[in-house]
Amino acid sequence: MEIIILPTSAEVGRTAAAHIASLVSRDPSAVLGLATGSSPLGIYAELARGVELGLIDFGQARAFALDEYVGIPLDHEQSYATVIRTEVVEPLRMNASLVQVPDGRAADIEAACDRYEADIVEAGGIDLQILGIGSNGHIGFNEPTSSFASRTRIKTLAPQTRDDNARFFASLDEVPSHCVTQGLGTIMAARHVLLVAQGAKKADAVAAAIEGPVSSLVPASILQHHPHATIVIDEEAASALT
Ligand code: F6R
Repeated sequence: MEIIILPTSAEVGRTAAAHIASLVSRDPSAVLGLATGSSPLGIYAELARGVELGLIDFGQARAFALDEYVGIPLDHEQSYATVIRTEVVEPLRMNASLVQVPDGRAADIEAACDRYEADIVEAGGIDLQILGIGSNGHIGFNEPTSSFASRTRIKTLAPQTRDDNARFFASLDEVPSHCVTQGLGTIMAARHVLLVAQGAKKADAVAAAIEGPVSSLVPASILQHHPHATIVIDEEAASALT
């Protein structure tokens, strides 16, 4: 694991964005894994600036989102399909037909999850997976006790995750109880994983993931076994490291 600790959240975004820009400059048709939530927003904003300036072109890049809520309409402002479109596809001028988000509304969710996995394989696998980390140590929506071998599937959101994400909704009651998420096995198959975390609220989860035992109780700890994992965090998120 490569751990990069930076003074500010803005620098986390810039440094992580530089990794992605460098990959897409080398390989314009690279396959990206996209996280949603607040953590990667600085990355996407920084990359969008590069696109505006003509420094980088995402027109041929493919992407697969990590997860999606189950039980809210596709056009809900908090559906990850909407967030990926407004925060990533449009600002980075990606080709929308090359960007996929798991289908949280499929009549046969299991079949849709299997297709998602097959599509990732057909695309040649994920070159770089962007990750945030939940305050309970989840990555994607792989909550504590998720199997390390898991693949894209439906999951129940942990109460702590619903509490944490209530800030995006009008009330806790509106936060979906279920999601579809790439599994830990899916994430571990990416050639490079780039996890970003900012703020003191993530400090315990970051320390447990990096320095604790590898345990399904802290799903992000599996990244200790990844051959190419880069962790970019600010000083507050690093504050519980020994
Ligand atoms: C989102 C995702 C989640 C978030 C995590 C942190 O696609 O997969 O694992 O990365 O819940 O969320 P934020 O960044 O909002 O603190």
